Amino acid sequence: MKRCFLIVFVAAFVSGCESPSDYKPTTTNPQIIFAEACSWCHGKNAEGTKRGVSLTKTKLEKTRVREVLTKGTAKMPKFKNLNGEALENVIDYVAKLK
Ligand code: HEC
Repeated sequence: MKRCFLIVFVAAFVSGCESPSDYKPTTTNPQIIFAEACSWCHGKNAEGTKRGVSLTKTKLEKTRVREVLTKGTAKMPKFKNLNGEALENVIDYVAKLK
């Protein structure tokens, strides 16, 4: 019994440490995706945190947002599972933040 608890604990710990680039959206709603995948670094309202820059200060071009999300930067992970409609919605959402 004790061992079983340990396995559950370890499994929860490992999945909690999954890197952001493995994020798979379960919705195409950009607000939910942003809250789940981006707010940890960029803040709930994209105001920025010490892990990620604010996305509201300047109007971001869609081409820039697309590039960052699909290629990543030195500090920002790329989101390889974000594509199709979900990706397009997030790009629109971020481009309109300002
Ligand atoms: C692990 C932290 C982290 C996560 C998660 C993250 N970002 Fe970032 N993001 C950064 C950092 C740090 C930068 C600054 C990039 C640099 O200087 O290399 C950045 C830069 C950006 C930029 C470019 C800003 C500019 O002014 O050029 C956009 C757009 C962006 N992120 C959108 C997103 C979106 C949308 C998500 C969610 C799908 C997301 N980020 C998730 C850390 C993160």
